Amino acid sequence: MSSLSLDRVYKYYGPQLCILNDINIDVASGEFLVLLGPSGCGKSTLLHAIAGLHKISSGAISLGGRVLNDVPCQHRDIAMVFQSYALYPSMTVGENIAFPLQMRKVPKSLRDKAVSDVANLLQISHLIDRKPGQLSGGQRQRVAIGRALVREPSLFLFDEPLSNLDALLRVEMRTELKKLHHRMGRTTVYVTHDQIEAMTLASRIAILDTGVVQQLGTPGDVYNRPANVFVANFIGSPRINLLPAISRGGRVVLEGSGTVLPPPAEFAAALRQDGRKVTVGIRPENYRTAEGNGDDRTVDIDADVTLIEPTGSDDVVFFRHSGLEQSALLRAGLITQSGPARLRVEASRINIFDGESGKRLA
Ligand SMILES: Nc1ncnc2c1ncn2[C@@H]1O[C@H](COP(=O)(O)OP(=O)(O)O)[C@@H](O)[C@H]1O
Ligand SMILES: [Mg+2]
Repeated sequence: MSSLSLDRVYKYYGPQLCILNDINIDVASGEFLVLLGPSGCGKSTLLHAIAGLHKISSGAISLGGRVLNDVPCQHRDIAMVFQSYALYPSMTVGENIAFPLQMRKVPKSLRDKAVSDVANLLQISHLIDRKPGQLSGGQRQRVAIGRALVREPSLFLFDEPLSNLDALLRVEMRTELKKLHHRMGRTTVYVTHDQIEAMTLASRIAILDTGVVQQLGTPGDVYNRPANVFVANFIGSPRINLLPAISRGGRVVLEGSGTVLPPPAEFAAALRQDGRKVTVGIRPENYRTAEGNGDDRTVDIDADVTLIEPTGSDDVVFFRHSGLEQSALLRAGLITQSGPARLRVEASRINIFDGESGKRLA
């Protein structure tokens, strides 16, 4: 049993400066929760609070039903992996990994066995006698993970562990971390500002902005049903197109072009009143080229293509419509030149947000 519960957690630095604002998250035993948000939104502060490196101003943090607020960090049964690795340069890889066990006075024979098991798991057995200075970034990161694993803690915390690695290695380590989690099944809280990392690793994602949880949900939830404009904008690459519009006759009319879109049925109640200011969110992949006839769930528009960015299998096609620059993700080669093009919107997949509060309308 190692579920983590954050209950009405606040953190202030001074009376005015609220860094964590009413955080309520339950992480089930074995779950992989990702805290995602822009730089400075409070991710590390929350992780450090869970680890016991900072005190919270109010609220409760519990692990396996036990309130941790007054438990010092070394007694919390939590291991943390930092972005900076924080290895001891004068110790070998083996000594670094063994260190947490040595601190706990685990006998040498048991220590050696645990270190060798972890080194095998992370495929660093051949590096065991080297010093950190003789390792690559990816290898150092493995050692840091090994040092966390060796204690078999109830909870793993990771603070942007891959952000110092180059792009290729980052993707490789991401896959390995996921496999490792499948194998060990330990409760994990993982901090990143990288939405792709969040989407690929998480069982659920908590999206933070200015110390407030904007949405807590599965990767599918936050992508397909973003709770507000902030989440819609933060998740997805290329970014969602956000277009000002107004409700009329149960439909939405884009400002600028007057294009009328029939919204998904779930928004019907919110759009009953005419003249409501809304923001329409259209994912780039919800556009395709208009070939043949559409149906009543699609709308064709005149686009003015300004730029085509090939990515290999797909092209990101930038175009203007409704007086705004937008992007469409199309199969490579469907549009080959700038200028007029006819695109089709899958209106059944659009999201609609309140024009003022930015909240999703269903
Ligand atoms: N000791 C401190 N005193 C005042 N403000 C702080 C302190 N530590 C962090 N902050 C502020 O708290 C906010 C959140 O920081 P942090 O949790 O490190 O963000 P993240 O990890 O999401 O980038 C930032 O605006 C930062 O400037
Ligand atoms: Mg941080």
